[in-house]
Amino acid sequence: MNASPFQRLKHLVAASLPGDAPGFRIAWQCPSNIALVKYWGKREGQLPVNPSLSMTLERAITRTSVTFTPEPSGGRKLSVNGDPAHPFLPKIRNLTGWLEREVPASGSFSLEINTSNTFPHSTGIASSASGMGALALCLVSGMIRISGEEFTRAELFRMASVAARMGSGSACRSLFGGFTLWGKDPSVPGSSDEFAIPVADMVHPGMLTLKDTILIISREPKSLPSSLGHDAMKVHPFASSRVSQARQNLSDMLGALKNNDLEKLAEISENEALTLHALIMSSRPGAILMKPATIEAIRRIREARSQGLPLFFTLDAGANVHLLYPAFSSGPVTDFINDALAPLCDHGERIDDGCGNGPAEILENEMFP
Ligand code: PMV
Repeated sequence: MNASPFQRLKHLVAASLPGDAPGFRIAWQCPSNIALVKYWGKREGQLPVNPSLSMTLERAITRTSVTFTPEPSGGRKLSVNGDPAHPFLPKIRNLTGWLEREVPASGSFSLEINTSNTFPHSTGIASSASGMGALALCLVSGMIRISGEEFTRAELFRMASVAARMGSGSACRSLFGGFTLWGKDPSVPGSSDEFAIPVADMVHPGMLTLKDTILIISREPKSLPSSLGHDAMKVHPFASSRVSQARQNLSDMLGALKNNDLEKLAEISENEALTLHALIMSSRPGAILMKPATIEAIRRIREARSQGLPLFFTLDAGANVHLLYPAFSSGPVTDFINDALAPLCDHGERIDDGCGNGPAEILENEMFP
């Protein structure tokens, strides 16, 4: 990793802690993302076994504020939405604990975290990605504020991407708009296993108009926590061929994004989605996360594409289907969704989203109570 911004921050924060500094509050909003080349399998240190590429969403957002209260004599407290035993806290502690090792003085503050999502739970939208992204931005910006020094926006987002990764791997990709790459790829200068980078300048503008309608096939909570899925890949018989496949798919997908090649993008995205589920099914113990309606939706989507409608799907590690299509075909695709896909959704439910611009700071006058 390019550790220098964190090293700088560590020394600056340690030097500027006055002990009786006033508390303050910082807030950010951060979107979720959907992977098109999937991260599945990790190494020690929350590092990926293969590079992954995602599209940042626009409307599926977490809004988080953190109130920093100095605790010069120790005994920092953490709470989420007023609850000191909130179920999010174990994951949050992975992030705050890591930050404390990087920037020890960050542990001298109690943190009151208030957070809410613009989207409902169990919808196939990764709330951990947007949640950890927003929290990482608040924590890193908080440390920068205490340091009293200027850091560039690129340094802030890079540090936040590293920090978000410690809470949830895929969260590190939510820090940038458009399309984002996480993981070292020899063809992309500056790519790293430690943080994600935006690849918007390698993407045809047409691709930035992609829409994502999430078909809510099932609201049942996921039966496979992703940490167990990543662990299972350590002993998966197809692990090494999966890594080679992901590298090849990434390289082909970067080509498709550059050339505005929707057909190629569709082919690779669907291959990635089905491979993810095939790996999950063939793990020990295997799990089947798709529902009959997931498979029927896939069949109908492919049939519509064969008849000329430009659309394709991807899946997260769950039953719900992300339907992707360019903005110019929104009209006919909406008709198709209403006729053929809505009947497969739980109470007809779906969420309309699309490619978005990334996180934004929430100013004090725009803050929620
Ligand atoms: O970030 P995690 O540990 O929740 O893993 C996410 C894995 C997938 O969502 C299935 C794929 C991905 O790249 O986002």
